[in-house]
Amino acid sequence: MRFYALEKLINLHDNYTRQFKIDNLQLLLIQRLGEPLLIEATCPHRGHPLDVATIDNGIIQCALHQYQFAIDDGRVLHATEEPCRGLRTFEVIYEGNEIGVMLDD
Ligand code: FES
Repeated sequence: MRFYALEKLINLHDNYTRQFKIDNLQLLLIQRLGEPLLIEATCPHRGHPLDVATIDNGIIQCALHQYQFAIDDGRVLHATEEPCRGLRTFEVIYEGNEIGVMLDD
């Protein structure tokens, strides 16, 4: 496992939203209500970008077909069409003055 720094803590604020690409992985770092969240950047249903999703009350809702996922573990809460897998979520790691993610080498 290796630490990948994503952002300096000083740059985080509520409504922060930024995408990061690590090899083939597209990540989305967001902060809401003081809580940083790290998820895959596109919807597991049909790949719509999640930087335009709505986030409310622990639920992220994709803008395209309104699928809903739990922010804490990514499970599907509501599907409007065919079933899809859950949203990949990642633990945020703090190291020094940066926030990042641990990923396999
Ligand atoms: S692409 Fe996100 S709900 Fe369909």
